[in-house]
Amino acid sequence: MNLRIVREQWRILLIVVILLVLAGWKFLSAFTNIGYSPEQPIPFSHRLHAGINHIPCQYCHAGVERASQSPIPGLNVCMGCHSVVDNQRPVIQEIAKAYNSNQPFHWVRVYHLPEFVKFRHSPHIDAGIACQTCHGPVESMDQIVETHQFAMGECIDCHRQQNFLPPAAERIHRDYQLSTFHGHPVNAPTDCNTCHS
Ligand code: HEC
Ligand code: HEC
Ligand code: HEC
Ligand code: HEC
Ligand code: HEC
Repeated sequence: MNLRIVREQWRILLIVVILLVLAGWKFLSAFTNIGYSPEQPIPFSHRLHAGINHIPCQYCHAGVERASQSPIPGLNVCMGCHSVVDNQRPVIQEIAKAYNSNQPFHWVRVYHLPEFVKFRHSPHIDAGIACQTCHGPVESMDQIVETHQFAMGECIDCHRQQNFLPPAAERIHRDYQLSTFHGHPVNAPTDCNTCHS
């Protein structure tokens, strides 16, 4: 066969393959939530609070190191500062009004695992994993953007890596599933009932 025609056919095949990969990518990303960033009923900015004003995460998400869930702060926490700070601004008066009316207040949930997955914050915080490892650079976000999907593979990949971090690497054979993280012994199991009952 003529060499030029063969080359032309390869080029067409290559273009078709690239188009298929792009279409597949688009198709799959329709099923992930990465980039999900719902508007909140009050425009609350993490950049302004955790970033510019350096308010620690746990000032508002108190008890995350103990609780299974990391609670979203109630409006009473906001009013602790905003009964004074910026209290003449319309947006703060809106918060004060919602607080004083005692109506339950609903923020729009961003991160969400399916019901059949057991996740607790506490072992992760205790192991010294930063909030940002899982939630991205929250302190630079005006509106929270979902940065991780937490498909099963992502949880398990980290669990595997944690268990096999040096300096414990040499110990793997002797002491399977035990390593150290920030000096603490770490046990991040990968068997099914760790995350599913
Ligand atoms: C001044 C209080 C305050 C501080 C400080 C704060 N947060 Fe928040 N956080 C909130 C409020 C209120 C919400 C709910 C509204 C929203 O999603 O923006 C929230 C929501 C979140 C969410 C999304 C929860 C969901 O719906 O899935 C994450 C993740 C989060 N915060 C992480 C952090 C991290 C990490 C830090 C520190 C870098 C931090 N927050 C500091 C008040 C705070
Ligand atoms: C190992 C990963 C990981 C780390 C580290 C982590 N989170 Fe989360 N976070 C998650 C996952 C996964 C969810 C969704 C949980 C669910 O749907 O049950 C979540 C949910 C949340 C929520 C929504 C409410 C809730 O409790 O479900 C807030 C707020 C939050 N995280 C704040 C924080 C803060 C603040 C830190 C650091 C002190 C932190 N997270 C560290 C993975 C992590
Ligand atoms: C530890 C103190 C503190 C807490 C708690 C706090 N804030 Fe703030 N907030 C501030 C500071 C400081 C500013 C910036 C003030 C400025 O720059 O004028 C601010 C600014 C704001 C603004 C912007 C006001 C404007 O006019 O643009 C909003 C909205 C706001 N906060 C909402 C909230 C909400 C909602 C909560 C509770 C989830 C909360 N804040 C909790 C200290 C706090
Ligand atoms: C960035 C790394 C990392 C990610 C991502 C991560 N984990 Fe973990 N996880 C750990 C470490 C480290 C431990 C062990 C902490 C210890 O030794 O106490 C742990 C422990 C746990 C435990 C407690 C195990 C026990 O002892 O009973 C559960 C449950 C768990 N993880 C579930 C999850 C789920 C579900 C996800 C995904 C949504 C996830 N983890 C994502 C690092 C991670
Ligand atoms: C470290 C935590 C973790 C471990 C260990 C784990 N899973 Fe999962 N699993 C998850 C998470 C998180 C999801 C939800 C994924 C999503 O929302 O897409 C999930 C989802 C699933 C699903 C639903 C289908 C899917 O893929 O979404 C099945 C079935 C499942 N797991 C089976 C297993 C089996 C069998 C094992 C043991 C070999 C196992 N899991 C171990 C975290 C884990």
